[in-house]
Amino acid sequence: MKKCLIGLSITLAVILFGFAIYMYVDHIIHTDDSPTITKDGKDINKSEYIYKDDLLELGYTIEEIKTIENKTTSTDVKNFLLEKKYNNLINFISSPYFKAKNIQRYEDYLSKNEEYSYENVVLYVEVGLDKEFYTEITEISNYNDLDAIVNKYYKLPSNFTPEDLVVVKKEYWGNNYEYKLREEAAEAFYKMADAAKEDGIVLKVVSAYRTESTQSSLFNNSVNVDGLEHALIYSAKPGHSEHQLGLAVDINMASSKMHFENTKEYEWLKANSYKYGFVERYPKGKEFITGYGFEPWHYRYFGIELATNVYLDGSTYEEYIVKHSK
Ligand code: DAL
Ligand code: ZN
Repeated sequence: MKKCLIGLSITLAVILFGFAIYMYVDHIIHTDDSPTITKDGKDINKSEYIYKDDLLELGYTIEEIKTIENKTTSTDVKNFLLEKKYNNLINFISSPYFKAKNIQRYEDYLSKNEEYSYENVVLYVEVGLDKEFYTEITEISNYNDLDAIVNKYYKLPSNFTPEDLVVVKKEYWGNNYEYKLREEAAEAFYKMADAAKEDGIVLKVVSAYRTESTQSSLFNNSVNVDGLEHALIYSAKPGHSEHQLGLAVDINMASSKMHFENTKEYEWLKANSYKYGFVERYPKGKEFITGYGFEPWHYRYFGIELATNVYLDGSTYEEYIVKHSK
């Protein structure tokens, strides 16, 4: 019996030892970031090396290096911050939206926009504003989601059609045209228009879902009538319009010439649309961010929760995404 126990213990010890060896070897194989590196024949702690040696050599002060250490990871430093001394790194790094990989873009954008605060430079570069509109375009894949973004940087795949389009009830049409929206957006619009009616405000749909080819015709028509510059400001290129999502609606009048901004309908929408899930998408003063002229008639359905958050944030959706992305 005793022999048997000793035998069992030895077997267990051998198994445990073997397992420990296996774990150690596995760790060595899978660890690409060893804590030390050798420099000038000496083993130096890697993070110490990155922060205190190279950064000092680049000309950052100890105080600045501490800030860099607090606000970035050693991988960020290693990959993005050792090429040269960035004059405004310490100013940019305090922004909650700072990304080390974009440091050169922040420097370049600031040099062209010296009046902007460091935080806005970071925010606007993260929005993409340092790139010309329509030059670097990403095709979105979350086109069925209420939070999908479509703008001059993000487009829909060319075969996209929303699956749950419904014809908007005729009593909500502003013209004799069969408007469609995604079902949830249509239902929300009815609620909003009904609530507005109780306040003596009449809201009618004058544009809603558009196919890619409709958007294409609208854009081309705008180019022909008003010229390319005007078309780019008031019309999205095909694939880039929120109307193609089935989640955007133009209310009462869709023209920069008709002064919708001076109506009590617009005043009502500004104060209330978010309660029904709609957000004014191209506001005055934010043209340089959205890439579109002021469109007080254009509302995007996001659902009540997101619309409320965007509204309370006081941001365009472009800025909101940067501020709240995880
Ligand atoms: N007028 C808006 C920008 C559109 O064409 O989608
Ligand atoms: Zn519109």
